[in-house]
Amino acid sequence: MASGIKTVPIPHRGVDYRGKVVLAPMVRSGELPSRLLALQYGADLVWGPETVDRAMIGTTRRFNEKTKTLEWFRMCSNNVKDPVDGKESIIYRLHPEKEAGKLIFQIGTSDPERAVQAARLVAADVSGIDVNAGCPKPFSTSGGMGAALLRTPDKLCAILEALVKEIVPEFEIGISVKIRILETAAETEVLVRKLCATGITGLTVHCRTTPMRPRERAIRGQLRMIADVCHEYGVACLMNGDVESKEQGLKLAEEFGADGAMIATAAEINPSCFRTAEEGGLLPWREVVEQYIKICMDTHNRFANTKYLLAQMVSGKEPVRKPLVSTKCYKDVCKLLGLDHLMDRAAQADIDSGTEQHLMNMAAKRKPQTDNSPQSKQNKKMKTTISEKAQQDTRPTSPMPEKAQQPCAQLAS
Ligand SMILES: Cc1cc2nc3c(=O)[nH]c(=O)nc-3n(C[C@H](O)[C@H](O)[C@H](O)COP(=O)(O)O)c2cc1C
Repeated sequence: MASGIKTVPIPHRGVDYRGKVVLAPMVRSGELPSRLLALQYGADLVWGPETVDRAMIGTTRRFNEKTKTLEWFRMCSNNVKDPVDGKESIIYRLHPEKEAGKLIFQIGTSDPERAVQAARLVAADVSGIDVNAGCPKPFSTSGGMGAALLRTPDKLCAILEALVKEIVPEFEIGISVKIRILETAAETEVLVRKLCATGITGLTVHCRTTPMRPRERAIRGQLRMIADVCHEYGVACLMNGDVESKEQGLKLAEEFGADGAMIATAAEINPSCFRTAEEGGLLPWREVVEQYIKICMDTHNRFANTKYLLAQMVSGKEPVRKPLVSTKCYKDVCKLLGLDHLMDRAAQADIDSGTEQHLMNMAAKRKPQTDNSPQSKQNKKMKTTISEKAQQDTRPTSPMPEKAQQPCAQLAS
């Protein structure tokens, strides 16, 4: 790692990215339990999943006494005339004690004013605000966010400048940006110079171009130049792309003159990659999975999210992988994995996380109707006719499948 170089001042409540190996922002895979586990295994800092400014604006902040977490939530209603029927949707969660001084909030935005408005809602509870300028998926880029910002550098700089002007003095935290490399080193250099001049304290470079897929190897040819430009301005530079462990990250950063490294996929599969060899290195998946399940239950994590992550952590070669995907609640998972000592906690977690209620609602929906009144018969007849029609109509009922509506959610595929 470079030493004896210029550094921009780090605001009082902010963090310096230098010398750190950090957990990458990951939609779905970077929810609270994954971040807490990464910290437990030695991640120096953790990024939250990209949260779009519009989703954040209008949320209410509250402290959850049971889980000791801060939650930003809103009421969602299918029936706007009757908000009582509305369900609560938690947009962002953090653990103020366990993530203190370690959490960076990543924002998805294409507008300086909205970015400031959204950042203001969480700035007092996090250690930095990062702007996503690297997501290549159409649902992000079509809104002018993510990697689209690499093609509109003036807009990206205006967003960073607005955050530096409005958020830094009031909340005393730093602003950073996460980018991808451009096609040529010359183009990337022009961009990085502009970004560094905005007053940011850190820049992460994902060493892939926007069209590159995750399975293509990262390109490190531009990295030294990017780190050198960052250092000219005193900005910390984190490298990202195919880093597999804390030790490898520190070694690569040293080799290419960067200040630290960021890990995504390797940490998604096994977050103990943050343990050094001295600490025992990578742990077997069963041990990691047990820790993960405990944290999920303690934090009342949504079961669907827990199961998604478990499916990343357990290899397809393991015989339990297939039945794991069919589990419906924490009790099922603990039983399947032989975690009998956690069964009582699992039963409670199923109640606390709303999993049990959800299963009951689903069962009630499946239950056949017993009402035989003439009105009910008439309703059933109408429903059948509508459903027959719907079957003939092959157009999708939703403009996008649920998974695709999540920014960056499919980057792993
Ligand atoms: C499941 C998943 C979700 C991701 N979500 C985000 C995100 O919200 N914001 C972002 O900037 N990058 C996101 N990324 C990209 C990663 O942060 C990282 O840049 C990329 O995976 C390269 O790092 P790796 O080679 O260590 O996987 C995501 C990646 C994955 C695998």
